Amino acid sequence: MRIFRTDGVEVQALQGLDLLVADGELMALVGASGSGKSTLLGILAGLDVPTAGSATVAGFDLLAMDARARLRYRREVVGFVWQQTARNLLPYLTAVQNVVLPMQLSEGGGGRHARRRRVAHAEDLLGLLGLAHCRDRRSREMSGGEQQRTAIAVALANSPAVILADEPTGELDSATAEQVFAAFRTANEELGTTIVIVTHDQAVASQVRRTVAVHDGRMASEVLRRTEVDASGAERVVAREYAAVDRAGRLQLPRPYTEALEIRERVVLDLEEDHIRVSPDRKDGEGGEPRR
Ligand SMILES: Nc1ncnc2c1ncn2[C@@H]1O[C@H](COP(=O)(O)OP(=O)(O)O)[C@@H](O)[C@H]1O
Ligand SMILES: [Mg+2]
Repeated sequence: MRIFRTDGVEVQALQGLDLLVADGELMALVGASGSGKSTLLGILAGLDVPTAGSATVAGFDLLAMDARARLRYRREVVGFVWQQTARNLLPYLTAVQNVVLPMQLSEGGGGRHARRRRVAHAEDLLGLLGLAHCRDRRSREMSGGEQQRTAIAVALANSPAVILADEPTGELDSATAEQVFAAFRTANEELGTTIVIVTHDQAVASQVRRTVAVHDGRMASEVLRRTEVDASGAERVVAREYAAVDRAGRLQLPRPYTEALEIRERVVLDLEEDHIRVSPDRKDGEGGEPRR
């Protein structure tokens, strides 16, 4: 739960959001502007603290860290990619220097041997993301997509457990955005990094296996995609939408469903052998009967 108080006005940015991300997962968080996505990411990044509740990343309790632990957490446990390309890279450094920088900050100077090792690691990361040709380029000499992929390499520099990205493709056209998603997938598959991408772009759902939708600071639904092989041996991607059920058992009925059946205020629930029937409350008492 995260409540913001400004001038006596209270905004509940997150309320009862219950999300579990598996180690090594690549997932997207979608939701309209103002739904609480950046607030959640700020908490996971260790930049903001929840008002109540619990948040744990890679064994770190985000409510209990002191300033020192928080700094270490931000440098070594999470990597961050922002929407604004300019916020991710220092303009006067080349791509390889930008990737070396986080390693320098967390390790200190070290000798020539340490420096050479850091440069080699930075070159490896740039190569992995298809950016070898950008090694000695500064931001203004790279395309928007190349800059964001370099930002992913920077985020990966200290081998974090998790990468958090807030609208990383918000300033890119869709073809370039796809290349950036491909770079996230490469990092996820090759390095095993857990990746959470926040976006208001619904098209992201076709780029990742799991997409969670946030609505008014809660988890509303999620879409899981998996590849199935049919009888003829052809592969096809099957996407299924799930509604979220929180720990208290609450779930949100999608508006098109409630409108179609004119559901308001309450419903009748019936436990069947393998499902729960949700029926409109009809004043004349016919609610709850199976509709066949
Ligand atoms: N620092 C803040 N102070 C007050 N209200 C805030 C602050 N940050 C976010 N909010 C409010 O919290 C809600 C969620 O915001 P945000 O997490 O930025 O949403 P999103 O990233 O999904 O667009 C919004 O109503 C927003 O106005
Ligand atoms: Mg946001």
